[in-house]
Amino acid sequence: MAKTDGARLAVLVSGRGSNFEALHLGLHALDDRPAHIVGLISDQPQALALEKAERFAVPSQVIERNRYESKAAFESALVAALKTLEPNWIVLAGFMRVLSADAIAPFAGRMINIHPSLLPKHRGLHTHERVLAAREAVHGASIHFVTPELDGGPVLSQVTMAVEDNDDPDTLAKRLLPLEHRLMRATVALLATNEVKCVHGEITINGQVLRQPLRLGHDLDDHGQRMGQPDTR
Ligand code: GRF
Repeated sequence: MAKTDGARLAVLVSGRGSNFEALHLGLHALDDRPAHIVGLISDQPQALALEKAERFAVPSQVIERNRYESKAAFESALVAALKTLEPNWIVLAGFMRVLSADAIAPFAGRMINIHPSLLPKHRGLHTHERVLAAREAVHGASIHFVTPELDGGPVLSQVTMAVEDNDDPDTLAKRLLPLEHRLMRATVALLATNEVKCVHGEITINGQVLRQPLRLGHDLDDHGQRMGQPDTR
């Protein structure tokens, strides 16, 4: 039995839900959980993530865009559902919609998204293909605060990996995914156990401005603890 349940997380998904699964299982393995998932919302009724939520007894719901006459109506249903969950943090993990400023505002500075590239490089889709096309030596994933700009919000944390000569998009994706999962777990632990704010595009951690994204294994360990001397001034 966990001694504490920690911060309340809501997770938004559209598909497979491997980040959701990794986060849920990672948190459940701990005696003192820094956080727990109070609800999962999918915009896709067929999302595999919904089956996972059922298996883990995480409450889930589907809010489908095409059930609403406008994007605004869809988003107000989403916002209402999120508010009911009373989350401290909202985690977008493979949620394939760009939210408007109105939908983000109620949760400003409390919404994060995971993206499979080293932002600001390669916003949007097909990141693995684009890394190869650009002949980059290093690839990775980022967790950033959500703004109305697609994958454009301030970046909190990143994980990097080398691109090998014989890599193709599939091998990159396969190698990156477990690193994404580690980044997700570490970043959520960081958020749950520190005062992390994002105001007017600036991230502070316990009152110190973050100048560079935290790099997993360099500035941030797998338990969400800071390592070494952070670049904050
Ligand atoms: C991940 O690669 C994530 O970075 C991106 O969408 C994918 C979601 O995968 N935003 P999953 O649904 O968590 O398995």
